[in-house]
Amino acid sequence: MSLLEIKNLSHTYGDKILYKNESLALFKGEHMGIVGQNGTGKSTLIGMLSGEIIPDRGRIIWQPNIKLGHLDQHAVVLGEYTVIEYLKTAFQNLYILEERMNKLYEKYAITGNEKDLLQAAECQTILEVREFYIIESRIEKVMNGLGLSAIGGDKLISQLSGGQRAKVILAKLLLEEPDVLLLDEPTNFLDKEHVLWLSEYLSTFPSAFAVVSHDYDFLEKISSCICDIDGGVIRKYTGKYSNFLKQKEHLREEHIRRYYAQQQQIKETEEFIRKNIAGVNSKNAKGRRKQLERMERIVPPSVTISKPEFCFLESPSSAHEALKVKKLEVGYYYPLLSPLNFTIDGGQKIVITGFNGIGKSTLLKTLTGYIEKISGEFIFDNSVRIEYYEQDIIWENPSLTPLEIITRCYPSLNIKEVRRQLSRCGISNDHVIQPVSTLSGGEQAKVKLCKLMLSPCNFLILDEPTNHLDSTAKEALKNSLKNFRGTVLIVCHEEAFYRSWVDKVINIELT
Ligand SMILES: Nc1ncnc2c1ncn2[C@@H]1O[C@H](COP(=O)(O)OP(=O)(O)OP(=O)(O)O)[C@@H](O)[C@H]1O
Ligand SMILES: [Mg+2]
Repeated sequence: MSLLEIKNLSHTYGDKILYKNESLALFKGEHMGIVGQNGTGKSTLIGMLSGEIIPDRGRIIWQPNIKLGHLDQHAVVLGEYTVIEYLKTAFQNLYILEERMNKLYEKYAITGNEKDLLQAAECQTILEVREFYIIESRIEKVMNGLGLSAIGGDKLISQLSGGQRAKVILAKLLLEEPDVLLLDEPTNFLDKEHVLWLSEYLSTFPSAFAVVSHDYDFLEKISSCICDIDGGVIRKYTGKYSNFLKQKEHLREEHIRRYYAQQQQIKETEEFIRKNIAGVNSKNAKGRRKQLERMERIVPPSVTISKPEFCFLESPSSAHEALKVKKLEVGYYYPLLSPLNFTIDGGQKIVITGFNGIGKSTLLKTLTGYIEKISGEFIFDNSVRIEYYEQDIIWENPSLTPLEIITRCYPSLNIKEVRRQLSRCGISNDHVIQPVSTLSGGEQAKVKLCKLMLSPCNFLILDEPTNHLDSTAKEALKNSLKNFRGTVLIVCHEEAFYRSWVDKVINIELT
């Protein structure tokens, strides 16, 4: 029996049909990767599975008493907990049981009643079986794996960045070991080594999961089946991601072949009808016309979605040495890293790596003036014009539409030009006039990139710009960065994205 059954699911937003009468099942222990281009409805599907979004039509049937663990693309934690306190809530029931056991032992010490002792022993057995006494080491293992130890277990969650908070939520979900995990783009806030750790953890995960991701290496490692959402159709493929790609390609070729064969047949039949409808073969022609009317038409193969195109406006630069960093210490209250020393030449393309999840974004925020340095110095050449892409997608006013956001930023552009620029970045005509908060993660990232690329610059500072982007958008961004003649300083956890075009890797652990 399946854990989950989706039957005849249909959903639309305005004119956009997300799914049309679709069905899907998830079985016990199945590891499902959910894929599809930006805006095809992956997060919406996860929202429906977790009960947060009600579909227009169709039924979502979970096996009774299933425990779900859900991490959404824009996760939040409520309440004032420290990291450790919050992670311990994953075992709340066991702590309650321990308290009960202690009370029973205390009662027995006073009354000497054997029944209390027996009950206390029962509690103890359950605690042992449920591995209560090694909770701390389990928490430690997950914290290390996801890079939370570097942040510190006694940090208040409210003081963490969005990415760090998402890590904490993810850690708690993994510790809870629910019957089904629902994760929406969990790699967005992880560094390379944490992505690797998570992929190993998930590949041996005993329960079932459905995980949305645009990171194909990650999907290849974790999934035993793929759910693909494409053009309103939800389809499940068994096997790994690479296998899915082959199967999909094969089905597409088959579809194209059958479609054109049918079109040819229709053309020939119509020709026959036209020639014979008035002659001796009229009866035959009429029969064929009926046949043609009854024929189930194969839908034309979908044309590939137009590729976005990012093109950063360049301002001239004369810098030989664009940035010099000397004994720079960065952090909030105390230095996170040892003093940094490096230089970046004009036109160089640099990726910053290093295991410490907080150090890299903090460095970029310091260089762009969003936070104060602790000590040391950094000097940009006078001719440098910086544009900065922050990791978190936060809108000052989320009810504004993309059209309004870009127009307010660039009042000299007329509406037609703003629409053209947004459409170039892959934002459709419908989406430009809807509040930016209702756009999918990838669509919001594209609006942010559009805003960035319209401002002339010669030094791009980008913090995880590939987060949320689908494969075609990532390819387009890669090309634009390759062609950009200015300097690029990027933090990115996907080696496949930057490997072919960066000049130098600066590992901040080793400086
Ligand atoms: N509340 C809403 N009102 C109008 N449109 C919406 C709303 N929520 C989502 N949409 C639209 O529905 C589509 C699907 O959104 P969804 O967030 O599910 O996409 P996704 O597949 O997760 O994309 P991504 O890969 O970018 O995260 C998008 O085009 C989005 O703009
Ligand atoms: Mg999404």
